[in-house]
Order: sequence, then structure tokens, then C-alpha cells
Amino acid sequence: MKDRLFIFDTTLRDGEQSPGASMTKEEKLRIARQLEKLGVDVIEAGFAAASPGDADAIRTIAETIQGSTICSLARANERDIHAAGGAIKPASRGNRAGGRIHTFIATSPIHMEKKLRMQPDQVVEAAIKAVKLALEYTDDVEFSAEDAVRSEMDFLVRIFDEVIKAGARTINVPDTVGYSIPALWGERMKQLIERVPSADKVIWSTHCHNDLGMAVANSLAAVMNGARQVECTINGLGERAGNASLEEIVMAVRTRKDVFNCDTRIDATQIVPSSKLVSTITGYPVQPNKAIVGANAFAHESGIHQDGVLKHRETYEIMRAEDVGWHANRLSLGKLSGRNAFKTKLSELGIVLDSEEALNAAFARFKDLADKKREIFDEDLQALVSDEGYATDHERYKLVSLKVCSETGEVPHAQLVFTDEGVERQADGTGSGPVDATFKALESVVSSSANLLLYSVNNITRGTDAQGEVTVRLALGDRVVNGQGADTDIVVASAKAYLHALNKLHSKRERAHPQV
Ligand code: KIV
Ligand code: ZN
Repeated sequence: MKDRLFIFDTTLRDGEQSPGASMTKEEKLRIARQLEKLGVDVIEAGFAAASPGDADAIRTIAETIQGSTICSLARANERDIHAAGGAIKPASRGNRAGGRIHTFIATSPIHMEKKLRMQPDQVVEAAIKAVKLALEYTDDVEFSAEDAVRSEMDFLVRIFDEVIKAGARTINVPDTVGYSIPALWGERMKQLIERVPSADKVIWSTHCHNDLGMAVANSLAAVMNGARQVECTINGLGERAGNASLEEIVMAVRTRKDVFNCDTRIDATQIVPSSKLVSTITGYPVQPNKAIVGANAFAHESGIHQDGVLKHRETYEIMRAEDVGWHANRLSLGKLSGRNAFKTKLSELGIVLDSEEALNAAFARFKDLADKKREIFDEDLQALVSDEGYATDHERYKLVSLKVCSETGEVPHAQLVFTDEGVERQADGTGSGPVDATFKALESVVSSSANLLLYSVNNITRGTDAQGEVTVRLALGDRVVNGQGADTDIVVASAKAYLHALNKLHSKRERAHPQV
């Protein structure tokens, strides 16, 4: 029998450390629900001590998710451990899969001396103390040696043995700065497992960053040398160049069963929906040639390849697109479908709307969309429901109507009607294009002083009748927010996204970016 490879997803923690990728509590919860459906073993939901908002988001996720362990990160100090312990507490109630505290301290000479200003003995002492304190909240404690890649082997062996004796159940070896290469990283894992006396009492884990483009290769090298947990993120999101991408790890292990003596419990058909959801919420598009989840990952362009695939699929394909969640997305609902069929389809897609009101509003949008669009796909439905999800933030501004004139040789002109706390307002503006005119018109009335950091449009499905999904990233002071909007008219989608971002800036419930 093959070993189990545990998947520890850190999209909501390390992934959220990507510039501008901060999420609201509701957005984190939506991603957590999708990760549970995907079958990840552990969801690192955040860093409780970072802010009361992050602790609250972890607590809500711990209250909701049943099938994955919910984890909070904590530095090796009392305050962080208490915050993490409090936040994960609901994960141990009822049938839930339990809560984990992931505590860490840096172990490399450069970090200990320059950042922590601690002696190695003090670092070991702090690590042991942190693990023991974490055990007062949960028996599932993970310890990480930050910057393990540049740490001395003898010191790693010592500290890992001590924290295992103190009660840690998972030992994580991070390449914090993305410095290693597969042969060295595999060797490091092998040596640690051989040299740490109590190595057989724990799960060995790896956490690799992608600064040299080797996060996945390094993680897999660690797996080949005994690691049985991989820390990774959807779409490889994460600090700087990102983390190892979950979809690549999972599919590499599954596709090369002949090489890896382990497998995960991931439902691979949920990979593409997870990728799309994370991309939409964070505003980080997926490059078309990205392995597994890129739009072209299964597209055969050359005649020779197409011919080969038609004759025998395996000539050029090592995986099936439908096995990772592509193409299985035709919605059997149409213009004439009723509310019940719509509700049933939502539940098949794992979408939970928390009130009848939200369901009615989503259904009205569905009818609207069915009038405009010939074929409706699951992705359309996800976007449409997202539009409802966006409305759960305090909606100060709401789009009523938009008229745009864009004509060759003329200056584009936008006229909008929107509500501000229920009161109708008009806006008028010109710009270099219809979207610019729309944003300028809105700003001429709302005067938010926000800076536009990012504007991106993605088509949700194929064809010119597809909905465009727009992400707008705004910064105001130390707040960075992403607004989204979807519509078959991308200028309308842009206006919705801009107003959504403004609503988030005004919402008191919005968390500050974790890096701030
Ligand atoms: O990259 C890193 O070292 C981390 C640790 C907190 C595990 O994210
Ligand atoms: Zn990291």
C-alpha cells in the first residue's frame, strides 16, 4: 500500500502574503469551503496574532469547516500561541477534523544573529517552550525552522529532536528564501530523517518558495526522500515568487505513480474550480501556459500533435483535462429553468447562500444572464453567485445604470447612476477609453483619493458572449482591497468592480493587509 502524502494548503496564509492579495473574512471562508471540497488535509487559515481580523477569520473557518484540520501560524512566543490557540478552538468541536498550531522560529545564523538577536541556545529554549504551550490548546502541533535552507545541519538536528521530545507531531523544513535545488533539498530531508533520533515519531514536511523557480521540484525531491507533508498553495500564490503550487504537486505524484511511493486524498476534479476561485478573489490571473490550471495546459496547437491525440490520446497527453476539472462544466440550466433547479445546481456545485434573499437575488441575475448569453457554464454560475457574495460587504455604493459613448475619433464619455447609502447620484466623465471614463466619472463624485493599483479582465468562459470578470485593486493609506465584478459587458463589470472595491474600503469589517 502506498503512503499517504498530506497536503497542507497555505493559500490563506502564505498565499495571502502576496502583494495585494489580502482577503475579507467572507472571501477566506469561500476559499476554505472550496479547499475542504478539494480534500486538503490541513488549511492554514491565517496568522491569528497578526490582527484581530485575521484571528476572527480563522475562528469562523474553524467553526464552519468539518473535513480539514484548521491551522493558525504562530511565532514561538506566548502572545502568538495564545492568539492561535483561541482562534482554532472551534475546530475541535463536534465532528470537525481538529485544529493545529504551527509555530516557528528562525534557525539560520543570519536570521538568529541579525533578525532575532538571539543565541542558538535561546532559540532552542523558545522553540521548546512554544511547543509545550501550544500543546495546552491542541495535541496537533507543528514546528517549523524558518530559513532551514541556510541553517547548520547539526543545529537543525538538535532543535528538531528537542521539539519532537516536547511533543511536536509535524516537523516542517522550509526553504524560506527559495534558495535550494532539488538534489540538495532531497539530500537535506534524507539526512534529517536519518540523523534526528526521534525522527520516526513525526511527519516530515517541506515548505518551498519559488524564487529560483524550483519550489515544486524541491518539494518533490523532499517527498522522494521521506517527506510526507507538502505545504503548498493554489496557483503557487505566495510571498515574493510564491510557494510550491498544490496542483502541480498533486498531479506529479498521481501521474508518476511509478516514481512516488505515496498519494494524496485530493479530489483532482476540484483543482480547476479552486484555481479559478483563488484567482478571482485575489485578482492574480493564471498565466495561460501554467501547468494543470493554465487555459492552454491541455490545448494542442500543432497539427502533428492534434493528429496524434485524435488517433490515440496518450500520444501527447499524460493527464486528462477532465480529471483535473476542465470541460466538465456545461450547465444544464437554461432560460426556462425554475428556482428549484437553480437551487439544486448550486448545491451540486457546493455553493451555499446564507439566506432566501441572497438566493432570490442570485436567481434574478441568472435569469438576466440567460437572456443575454446562449450557453451558461458552471463558471458563469460561480461568478454570478460571487456577485451576490460581494454584496455581503457593507454596500454603500450600488450601480443602477451606465451609459458609455465610445466612437472612433471622439473622446469616450461615461454617464452613471449609482446609489450612495440608498440615495441616487449621477456621475459624468471622460477618459482615454470607456473604462477610464467610467472610473473618472465615479471619482468625480465619490472623491475617494484611492490609488488604482491593478485593473484586470478575464473572460470567464469562451466566446464573445462570455462574461468578463474584472478585478480592481485600490489602495488608500495602509489599506489594499480587491473589488470584483462580472458582466457580459466589460465596462459594466468594471464599474461594478470599482464600486465593490470602494465598498470594501468603506467597510469597517475589512481586514488590513497582513503585511501592514
Ligand atoms: O517560508 C517560511 O519559512 C514560512 C514559515 C512560517 C513556515 O512561511
Ligand atoms: Zn513561506
